[in-house]
Amino acid sequence: MAIYVTGDTHGSQPSGFLSVDGFMRRLSKNSFPEQQSLGKDDYVVICGDFGGVWAANRYACAEPPEEKNALDWLEEKPFTTLFVPGNHENYDRLTGCRNEALLNSWFYERMPDSEKKKLRKGYPQKKWNGGLVREIRPSVLMLERGEIFCLNGQYCLAFGGAHSHDIRDGVLDPAAYANEADFIMDYRKRKGSLIRIKGVSWWEEEMPSQKEMEQGKSRALALMEQHGRVDFVFTHAAPLSDLLFFGYDGQDECSRFLESLLHEISFGCWFYGHLHDNRMLSDNRILLYEQIVKAYGK
Ligand SMILES: [Fe+2]
Repeated sequence: MAIYVTGDTHGSQPSGFLSVDGFMRRLSKNSFPEQQSLGKDDYVVICGDFGGVWAANRYACAEPPEEKNALDWLEEKPFTTLFVPGNHENYDRLTGCRNEALLNSWFYERMPDSEKKKLRKGYPQKKWNGGLVREIRPSVLMLERGEIFCLNGQYCLAFGGAHSHDIRDGVLDPAAYANEADFIMDYRKRKGSLIRIKGVSWWEEEMPSQKEMEQGKSRALALMEQHGRVDFVFTHAAPLSDLLFFGYDGQDECSRFLESLLHEISFGCWFYGHLHDNRMLSDNRILLYEQIVKAYGK
């Protein structure tokens, strides 16, 4: 069994000529030839901003064809893909939409109730190797926040989520507008500003709740009692001191929480993404973007 880890993929396709994004290129046979000797008991972990479930469809819950094809492509890979959620994920579709104001607004007025019911559920949740996952495909799984997984004897803590840096000028909430025309008028007025749209390109679930942080920590501490350490930690955000070390300012509750965890647990190796770079703070605190590293295995 092997565990490989990589950083943000931001969807299936590169976003430009020089882009390193897109899991279809990153995990192709050319970029990742090691896959030829892998099986479904081998894992590739994406440290957040997977982006394979992204588009907000106002009419139906089904995956758009381009996303469906890309996820099917990933399912056909010889390995199993795991990801922790980042800040750029469609949480409404992944974990179930709880934004009733949006569901009852003009934005979703053409979506039938039967489809809204599916959207409220998200992808099926199930227990897998000791923790909860959302099953995107049988071998494409989202690791729920604060869960512990045992991958062939290696205990892994997954804690996705991060604060978005690209909402400096705010978040527009479609449900706060009476109709589409009013929303578009306001949106156009803000052209050029750094904004995102709630339920379309930003979701408040990007940040962990108090309950998720408490649960995550208590599970990690319980594992420490039983096993002596957490073998691997997979997060999207970095602990605060790592963030500062790499020269990023701006702290938030998630990075502060991860910092507190850093001081309370022993771990084999901690991998995170979010900062769009490949750096190593020490031999067991590793920031990843497009690099794919082998964390465990022969
Ligand atoms: Fe990202």
